[in-house]
Amino acid sequence: MVPHTLLIVAPALQLPIDLEKEVTVLDLPLPGRREIESVLDGIINANRNQIVVDLSKEDRERLLQAAQGLTLGEAENAFARAIASDGRLDARDIALVLDEKRQAIKKSGLLEFIDSSGSIDDIGGLENLKTWLHKRNGSWLPSAQEWSIPAPKGILITGVPGCGKSLTAKCMASLWGLPLVRMDVGRVFSGVVGSSEQNMRASLRLAEAVAPSILWIDEIEKGFGSGSGGDSGTSQRVFGTFLTWLQEKSEPVFVIATANKIDGLPPELLRKGRFDEIFFVDLPTVSELKVIWKIQLRQRLTASSKASGELTVDDRLLSKLAEHSNGFSGAEVAEAVVSACFEAYSERRPLTEEDLTRTINNTVPLSTTQSEQIKLIRDWASQRAVASTSTEDQDGLTTAGSEGDVASWRGGRRIDF
Ligand SMILES: Nc1ncnc2c1ncn2[C@@H]1O[C@H](COP(=O)(O)OP(=O)(O)OP(=O)(O)O)[C@@H](O)[C@H]1O
Ligand SMILES: [Mg+2]
Repeated sequence: MVPHTLLIVAPALQLPIDLEKEVTVLDLPLPGRREIESVLDGIINANRNQIVVDLSKEDRERLLQAAQGLTLGEAENAFARAIASDGRLDARDIALVLDEKRQAIKKSGLLEFIDSSGSIDDIGGLENLKTWLHKRNGSWLPSAQEWSIPAPKGILITGVPGCGKSLTAKCMASLWGLPLVRMDVGRVFSGVVGSSEQNMRASLRLAEAVAPSILWIDEIEKGFGSGSGGDSGTSQRVFGTFLTWLQEKSEPVFVIATANKIDGLPPELLRKGRFDEIFFVDLPTVSELKVIWKIQLRQRLTASSKASGELTVDDRLLSKLAEHSNGFSGAEVAEAVVSACFEAYSERRPLTEEDLTRTINNTVPLSTTQSEQIKLIRDWASQRAVASTSTEDQDGLTTAGSEGDVASWRGGRRIDF
């Protein structure tokens, strides 16, 4: 018998069980830069007489990069739309194509482009984590290869709720100047959009297509932790796909995963060599609280000149607020500032120091209501994770409900980067 090769082409992978062992699956990547360039040239040539093309070499490069991550059909539509709007193709169309890409990615339902307008200076404290990120800025550039530096794989940030895990993910994208895409693990597994394995592969492929990029997996335990629901065989396989990719990926996609409940996470994920580092974000120390108050007040007060009035945000005020709110999370500080602003607004007068101290007194922080749980996460972290707070900011002051020695009480190993 003459041997035959059968090729099955399909947009979605759904193999009958009988065939699973017989076939080799080839995942076609999204079009690369050169393919997108030929679509662009095609469309320019076809409309040469009707349109004006005003693109510098650099604009052209940025336009191509903006379309990276789209299929050929989508790229063609995006370019056509850009041209049709005003009969021109110029630097202003880059935003339009990017917007088209955002929509296309959103439609997939698995990933979402996040606008990272925040700056790393919007994060108070966590100096150790920030230094680590600073040092790895630019590690995906060709120049890093001359130093034989391996591209960083990613980090896992875990810790007390409301202390800046998600905020860090958002701000690091602007620090590194890379696109940030968030994976919705719940949806990958939900089966609403497609099969879980296919969803995972599609998401990773998309993240690679926009590389260099940052893939943010928020609340990773919801997908990969024990008790995350779903069929355990499937979740094992999807998890396997992710781990293999994490270990072997060749595109510069940096993963930033955040988790609240770490005890449910599979040990394979935490093993050395998967993530570059596991960081623990604890309740802010008093020194860190000072900076967080400053940031939160600045954000609120510059947004509204009416609220600012006479309040002088100086060192004395910040020290007082920080001491007073010892045991608060960053989110609780943010919330306290908003409540204080409401107090002032209800009487149509500027914000005062008393408004702030009163809201602090009225807040019962999570560190009081959930001290047991926080202790558990800290115990876990002191063995396995690195403290995000720098040694310098460990100010030796205990937080509410503490028991003696801060160094042993606070979670995370002390390594300064
Ligand atoms: N270190 C910080 N510096 C400045 N603001 C902070 C800090 N930590 C928290 N905040 C404020 O609290 C808000 C919530 O923080 P974030 O979403 O990062 O918490 P999280 O650690 O991801 O919490 P969760 O575990 O509940 O997801 C932020 O948007 C910010 O306003
Ligand atoms: Mg979060």
